[in-house]
Parts: sequence; structure tokens; C-alpha cells
Amino acid sequence: MIKTWHLGDDRQSLVLASHDGRLPEVVYWGLALPDGEALEPLAAAAIMDVTGGMVDENAPTSLSPEASRTFPGQTGLTVRDADGAVLRPNFVIHSEEQSGNQIILTFVDTECGLTIIFDLSLTAETSLLRLQTRLQSKDDIIVDWLAAPVLPAPAHTNEMIEFSGRWCSEFQTCRLPVAPGARVRDNRTGRTDHAHFPGLIVCSKATSNTAGDAYAFHYGWSGGHKMVAEELADGRRQVQFGHATSSMAKGKSFETAPLYATFSDSGFNGTAVRFQRHVRTQIVRDARTPRPVHYNCWEAIYFDHKLEDLKSIADRAAELGAERFVLDDGWFGRRDDDTTSLGDWTIDPRKYPNGLTPLIDHVTSLGMEFGIWYEPEMINEDSDLYRAHPEWVLGPADQTRGRQQLVLDMARRDVRDYLFDQMSAVLGAHKIGYVKWDHNRVLPIVDAAQTDGVYELFDRLRVAFPHIEFESCSSGGGRIDFGILERTQRVWLSDSNDALERQRIQHDAALFLPASVTGSHVGPRHCHTSGRVIGMSLRAWTAAQRHMGFEMDPRELTPQEAETLKAVTQWWKANRDWLMSADILRLDTVDPAVIAEIQVAEDDQKFAAFAALARPSDQILPYPVRLAGLDPQAFYRISLANRDEAHHLSRGAPLLKSQDMSVSGQYLMSHGLTLPWRFPETIWVIEGQRVSA
Ligand code: GLA
Repeated sequence: MIKTWHLGDDRQSLVLASHDGRLPEVVYWGLALPDGEALEPLAAAAIMDVTGGMVDENAPTSLSPEASRTFPGQTGLTVRDADGAVLRPNFVIHSEEQSGNQIILTFVDTECGLTIIFDLSLTAETSLLRLQTRLQSKDDIIVDWLAAPVLPAPAHTNEMIEFSGRWCSEFQTCRLPVAPGARVRDNRTGRTDHAHFPGLIVCSKATSNTAGDAYAFHYGWSGGHKMVAEELADGRRQVQFGHATSSMAKGKSFETAPLYATFSDSGFNGTAVRFQRHVRTQIVRDARTPRPVHYNCWEAIYFDHKLEDLKSIADRAAELGAERFVLDDGWFGRRDDDTTSLGDWTIDPRKYPNGLTPLIDHVTSLGMEFGIWYEPEMINEDSDLYRAHPEWVLGPADQTRGRQQLVLDMARRDVRDYLFDQMSAVLGAHKIGYVKWDHNRVLPIVDAAQTDGVYELFDRLRVAFPHIEFESCSSGGGRIDFGILERTQRVWLSDSNDALERQRIQHDAALFLPASVTGSHVGPRHCHTSGRVIGMSLRAWTAAQRHMGFEMDPRELTPQEAETLKAVTQWWKANRDWLMSADILRLDTVDPAVIAEIQVAEDDQKFAAFAALARPSDQILPYPVRLAGLDPQAFYRISLANRDEAHHLSRGAPLLKSQDMSVSGQYLMSHGLTLPWRFPETIWVIEGQRVSA
């Protein structure tokens, strides 16, 4: 007996088949199948042959491959009874529900007392799959591994892109061949982490930003994930995502985070745009529009808070165009450096003898919103909180410290209540519209209850202070995932304000993140994390590619720098209404020294393209930059937004240097735009306006 299910829209189809009531497997995932396609033959055709050296029936790569069926690879569930004896469930169907684009399939093993539920849906607006597994047991069990619904990687794919990184260099991509055996990433840091963005793209060698098949995955969880991408000896491939090994405790009820996935045949931009749109429209809630120009004082003053300095910084920031002022670390306890006071969330009377109100009043009188920094999950030993509650610390007493700090056990209700009360006292008594929520160390133990506790605290605060926007920061981009983005409206992508490094990080993060949530700041002239000196134009335009902000001491700016920054900020404000909901498409550049992208408006009427020259090119003259995402039949008026930056060493006369031009989308995408020669570490900004259909 074969049962089949179809989940799809006009862009992709996912077909599931179950034989004789057993766990279903995906028998098709790719471009949308035509209406009327019979699914049973697809299921029957997918039954694998058997030959020498094999068991007599191949176990399916089901939504949770089972050890009990002699599955020859990593299983989808590893579970033990309360005494530690391994269970090998053999699930059979119990019930099914399908309504619209959601399918819920329930399977049971009565002997083991286990129920496994697969919750599968497709969001029509964004064509993103959302897949979740739940496991229930009649007795206490220990779950070492529970995979979200397992998906196949089709045979014609042969490469995959993984993500790693480090502090100040997040979202590094690593393109690897698919090879026999399992590629496993088990993130044991207890947070999403710089080194482990929970994403994967399976593709073929030929897949580029603009063309080719791409299967993209993201696990929406902030507590550390495990990924298994495996090619079996028989040639089949499977992709599994779940919580990091053994991070789920003993209990009767377990669930994975949602696994988001999508297929596109139009390259990495095809999947990237779906993820970006999904974040904007389905994940993030209550984001302020228009997105305010941000100012953060961290790199201007660090722990040295002086009211008069802060006021004059706020004056300058407002003049430059800032609309939000964020007071960073150092305002609470006796926090003069990073050895003390985390946990004591009361205003430091030495620095603020009259409280925060004088500063907040000043900031708001300048027309800016006031924001404030917290690191709620952390505690210093030198704090009143630690002296009162050393037992609130997560992990063993002799653990290694991180940034001289320890972590609070967020699974404890009393800890969360304390934090809620402390934060509410400040947030409730002041005009505060924004909280930067930091998390500056890895955890001493990996436990999903810690993340659940953090989510619960976030959710309570969001209900209590619905007007406050939250930012997720974790030494920069250490906690970026759809789980945290359901509770926040912005991520601090990286502590690197080095515009060149930012170009690369932003470019790769755009595989999943839209501009509206991606914080990007103009840093100090001498970059504090790389030591480089980068011109204001590149710094400002780089920030203008995402949710724009400043982080330097604005009093350091020369009149020329201030003028450039003001002009770019004004450009951003004039365009942000459409830019913040635009699709970001990464451009395939012939010159590896060029990092380029195009942002296309939702209504397809305009675009802005950014082409940064990160280092000197090998050849003398620039290659044309081929655009993407345009209507080939439409004509566009093209201009260079920063034409006045052409250098006198550019002595020729490419048209765009002196005037606008009108060309077809076809020309722009097939031939590309010839840009004037320029120095390395500069950027051209191209504006396009559709002039006819
Ligand atoms: C982390 C953040 C920074 C800043 C400092 C404050 O490093 O990433 O942006 O807030 O903490 O201590």
C-alpha cells in the first residue's frame, strides 16, 4: 500500500511517499510538477533496486531514517530509555492531517511507547518550507539526537556550501564537493555562534549566484545546531538538522526547531531572495518603519561615560542624520571595564548622578529615539548579584571564564524573574525605544533549556514593552538565526566596522538576511578591529547597503568626511522606503577583486547596485559588471550616484562618467555596465529607474 502527499506551489514541489504505513520519504523535490501528475508512480519508481552486497530491501531515507530498518547511515533519532538502554523504534502510521499548505503526519511505535509527529508546511508568499519534528513518549526517555524532517539532496547535486567564521569575520562560506560519508557539524558552543551559522546550500558545480540548482537550508535555533550531510554507499544523500548532540534533557516531550528549506533553479539568488523575504514578512515582527538611522556610542567612548561628552556626541550624530542613539555597555553597576557588574542592572550613580533622564531628554529633544545596552544572561563574579546568588550560575564552579564572565542558568524561573524585574524597572521608568541585547561568551554546557529560557524572557519583555525594538548581538554576529529573529528586529552582523571586511560579510549574509534587519555602521577612521584606514565614501556607502548607522566619535570627522557622510545618509533616507524591502541579489563578477550586488525594489521600478573594488584588479581596466533580477524587455535610466568621486587618473570618457544612459535590462544583464576606472577600496553606486515596460 502506497500513500502520497504533495506540498508545493508554482515554484517547487515536495512529494512524500509512505509504503505499508511506514515513515514517508521525499521521492521528489524540485521545480513544481504539473497539475495532474500522478504521485503513486513516482513513489513506486523511487523504490531502489537491490543487488549484491546489500540487504534485501533498502531502508528509505525517510523523514527520520530508522535504525530498526537497517538504515545504512546516520539515523534521524537516537533515543534511550530512562536506564540508558538504546531504543530502536519502528514507527507505523497513526494519523494524517492536510489543510492547505500544511501536512501533519503522526506515527507511533506502541512497543516503545513513542509517537513521532512531522509538521510540514510551505509559506505560499515566500515559497519556503518549514519543517519540524516532535517526539512524545509515555515514559521518560533520553534523546541524544532528534532530526527535523530529513530531506534528500538529489543525485545531480555535487557540491555544498557551508558556513563558518570567527569574531569580526562572520558568514564565511566554504564550498565543498559532496563525497561519500558524512560531513557533520556539531556546534558545542551553546549559542548559534560566529563559527556555525546554521545554514547549508546544496548545489552543483555550475551553480552561480544567478543560475543553476540550489537547495538551501536554515535551522532556526539559537542554542547550537548539528548538521549531517551524508552520502551513503548506495549513492543516496540526506541532510539532517537538529539541536546540538545531547542538548535535550531527559523527559517525555521533545521538539526540534523549525528547519527552513527551499529549492530554486535560479542560483543562489533564487534561494536568497526567498529567505530574505521570509525574514522580512514572516519572521520579524513589529519592526519600526521607516528604519531609523542608528547611532551607537561603543567605539566612541567604551566604558568612559561622561554626560557632557555623550550630549555633544548626540548633537553631532543628530546633525549627521541619526534618528536613534544607543547607549552601549558601561551605564550600570560599577562597570568601568569588562571585569565587573554584569547582573547589576541599576544605573551607575557615579556616572549618572541624576539618572539617565538628563541624557534621554537631551537625545529625545534632538528628535532621536533612545536605546540601551543589556547583556541579561551574563554575570560577573564582582557583582552584587553574584554575591547574593552564586548558585544561579550555569555550569561547574571551576569552569573557564569567557571575557571574565559567567553565565546565568536561564532555565531557572527565579533567574528569569529577577532579570525581568531589573530590566522592567529601567525600561518602564524611561523613554526607551530600543534594547541592544548582547551575549558575549560561549556557554559552559550545551543545554536546550538555556535557549528556551532566553526565548521565554524575550517573549515576556516583548509583551510588557511592545514599543521596544530589540537587537540581537553576540560579540557581533554570534547569535543570528530565525529563532532569535522571531524576537528581535535587527542583528549586529559583526563587531568589524572595517568597510572592506563588511563588504564580504554582508555579501555572504545576504544569502539569508534582508537589509532591513542587518545593522551596518560607519566606524572610526582608524578601524578599531583591523587597524585599517578606509575613506569615508566606502565606509558610508557600505553602511548604506543595509540598515544604516554610525559608531565612531562624530567629533573626529573632518568637514569633508562629515559632508560625505551627511550626503550618503540623506541618500539613504530618501531611498530607504523601497531599499528596506528590496531583494538583494549578489552579482557574479568576472573580476574577483569586485564585490557587487543589486537591490531591486519590490515593484521592480527601481534598483541600486553597489560595486566595491576590494583590492587592486589584476587587469588595468574594469570589466563590465553584469546586473541581475531585471526585466530584460524593460528600459532603465542608469546613473552613477557618486559620479563626483571619479578620480583624475581616470582619463577616458566612458558614458556614465559624464551622463546618465538608458539601456535595456537585457543589455545590463547580458553585457553589463562599464564603470570608470577607480582606486581600490572605493565603490561605485549605480541607480536605475525603469523608464518603460
Ligand atoms: C560586544 C558587542 C559590542 C559592544 C560590547 C560591549 O563586544 O559586540 O558591540 O556592545 O560587547 O561590551
